[in-house]
Amino acid sequence: MKTISLVYISLSGNTESFVTRLKDYLLSQYEGIEVQKIHIKDLVKEGQDFYEMDHPYVAFLPTYLEGGNGVDNGDVEILTTPVGDFIAYGNNASKCFGVVGSGNRNFNNQYCLTAKQYSQRFGFPVLADFEMRGMLGDIKHVAAIIADLYELEEAGTKV
Ligand SMILES: Cc1cc2nc3c(=O)[nH]c(=O)nc-3n(C[C@H](O)[C@H](O)[C@H](O)COP(=O)(O)O)c2cc1C
Repeated sequence: MKTISLVYISLSGNTESFVTRLKDYLLSQYEGIEVQKIHIKDLVKEGQDFYEMDHPYVAFLPTYLEGGNGVDNGDVEILTTPVGDFIAYGNNASKCFGVVGSGNRNFNNQYCLTAKQYSQRFGFPVLADFEMRGMLGDIKHVAAIIADLYELEEAGTKV
C-alpha cells in the first residue's frame, strides 16, 4: 500500500474542494494506494505541533497576497504562511515532490505567485497550477503527475 500525502491549506474552500476531488479520482484510477489529506489550517487550529513527514508528499497552495501588482509590490504572502512553516520544519522540504499553485488569473502577474516563491525558497518544482476550484481536466492533469511521481499502477491493468 502506497501512501500519497496531500499537504494543503484552504481559507475559502476552493483548495479543499480540489484536494477532495483529487483524492476520490486517485482512488478510482489507481490501485494499492491510500490518500492522506493534511490540512495545515486544522493543525494550527487544534494547536498541534508540526511534525516531520516520513514519506513524500505534494503541497497545494492557494495564493493570498497583500494588494499590489506582483511586479514592484504585492508579493507579501498573507494567510498561507503556516504551509511554509510546515515545509520548513525539520526535513519536510526534502520530502516535498513539489507544489501545485492555485489562484485567480484576474490577479495577472500575481497569479499563483506564492507557489513560485515556495519553489525558489525550497528548491522544488511548481508541478501545476489551476484556477479557483479547478476543472476535471486539472484534476486529471495533477493526478497523472502524481501517478508518475509515486509510480502508481492504474486500476485494472494487471493481467
Ligand atoms: C485577499 C485575497 C487575495 C488574493 N490574492 C491572490 C493573488 O495575489 N494571486 C492569485 O492568483 N489569486 C489570489 N487570490 C485568489 C485565491 O488564491 C483563490 O480564490 C483561491 O482559489 C483561494 O483558495 P481557497 O478557497 O482554498 O482558500 C486572492 C484572494 C483573496 C481573497
